[in-house]
Amino acid sequence: MAIDQDQNASKDTHENKRILIIDDNKAIHDDFKKILCVNNNKNSHLDELESSLFSQKTATPTQLNFELSFALQGEEAVERVKEAIQSGKPFAMAFVDIRMPPGWDGVETIQHLWQEDPNLQTIICSAYSDYSWHDINQKLGNNDRLLILKKPFDSIEVLQMAWAMVSKWNLAKQAQLKLENLENLVMLRTQKIEEKNTLLEKSIVELNTTRSQLVHSEKLSSIGQLAAGVAHEINNPISFISGNIEVLKEYCQDISNMMMSYLSLESDVIKGKKDDITNRCKQLKAKREAIRLMDILSDLDKLIDDSLSGSLRIQNIVNDLKSFSRVDSKKASQMDLIAQVIDPALRLAANNIKYKCRVNKSLSPLPLYLGHPGELSQVIMNLLVNASDAIENQGDITITCDVIDSHIHINISDNGSGMDQEQRLKIFDPFYTTKEPGKGTGLGLSISHGIIQKYAGELNVESQLGKGTTFNIRLPIPSVMENHISDGSDED
Ligand SMILES: Nc1ncnc2c1ncn2[C@@H]1O[C@H](COP(=O)(O)OP(=O)(O)OP(=O)(O)O)[C@@H](O)[C@H]1O
Ligand SMILES: [Mg+2]
Repeated sequence: MAIDQDQNASKDTHENKRILIIDDNKAIHDDFKKILCVNNNKNSHLDELESSLFSQKTATPTQLNFELSFALQGEEAVERVKEAIQSGKPFAMAFVDIRMPPGWDGVETIQHLWQEDPNLQTIICSAYSDYSWHDINQKLGNNDRLLILKKPFDSIEVLQMAWAMVSKWNLAKQAQLKLENLENLVMLRTQKIEEKNTLLEKSIVELNTTRSQLVHSEKLSSIGQLAAGVAHEINNPISFISGNIEVLKEYCQDISNMMMSYLSLESDVIKGKKDDITNRCKQLKAKREAIRLMDILSDLDKLIDDSLSGSLRIQNIVNDLKSFSRVDSKKASQMDLIAQVIDPALRLAANNIKYKCRVNKSLSPLPLYLGHPGELSQVIMNLLVNASDAIENQGDITITCDVIDSHIHINISDNGSGMDQEQRLKIFDPFYTTKEPGKGTGLGLSISHGIIQKYAGELNVESQLGKGTTFNIRLPIPSVMENHISDGSDED
């Protein structure tokens, strides 16, 4: 193969062209110098030797200009290789004579060299048949770092082999550098991806926190909307309880007056003061009839029962409010959707809506459902408040539930304002509201939709402008739950 000298001349000047010649014959060193170096001095002695070693004389392509170092023995060569590595200028290749008495032979030398520098390319120079290829292969292993050059040398062959091995070393080095660069790049990219991942994870956590804060504040805003009705509903029993207590206080006063009179009569009778006893008894009777003691006694039970039921009503409202506003625990629980979600939401909403809406219920038994009661109450409450808001004067709200095809269906219908197609398309968008400022945030349906989706369910709407609206919640029932149908307690 012809060597393109111009191309070689233009090669990277940082290319490693360092070659170590290892031969116990100094004259051979000079021969290599002639073949492989630019300024090869013409020396007749060397020429002679060259003719003895090489089958023909050749013109050396001086442009290759290898940097040569020499060693007479294997041990010395190993030292050179060590020094070269330490100084950061390793050899690209070595020519190694097969026989170098008294020290190591070529094969053993190469074994030591490779221990020091596994990248070193080697050419073993052999004129003897003491090592067959098979033997060499067995000792050095089958690898591509070794070529065998038979004596007598052909200088072109030497040059070409040196060039090929040096190029191979440099290419391998370049490939290694590229690989290192690539690894660094991959490491850098991985690091950046990891940083982005961490940021993303942080953002997701923040987003989730914001979302749950938003869901909770929407819930609180529903409570705000309910507040007037709830306050009124609590006020009612409170006012009749306090009225009852007033009456009870008067009754107590009359009863204790009567008791005092009876006690004084009793003590006088015991002491034997019996004058005028008939008269005093008559006065007592008149007093008793004046305060209508018998009526008071029969009224007492009713007053106490009414007050107790009033306080129970307050207690129930407070409990409903508490359970509605409570943040659900992270763990889902089995729940009775009617008793724990629909009825409490209806009771709370009823405080507001009962003055303008008649609420009709048709609740079929439902299976126990695994989930968070607070979340589902929030959905029902929002649909009920929306339905009531859509009714301007008087109207009906109907809530039904049933199991159809392994799905729980809860429908909330109203005969209020209804919606046109354009409005229907926007209602699940966050912050879409037609309510006056301060009344609605426009988050109710978007949050409700998100909650139902979390349960792999659907929230659908059918509406006709001027006629009314029906929202349908459809929740899949996992098969394990289907056996546990609740009795659908229908309390009011
Ligand atoms: N039953 C209904 N009948 C008519 N329009 C409705 C009905 N339900 C919802 N809408 C319309 O959808 C809009 C969005 O409802 P959404 O519940 O998301 O927000 P909002 O009720 O306005 O405010 P909030 O965040 O307090 O719930 C309502 O403003 C209303 O225009
Ligand atoms: Mg709403």
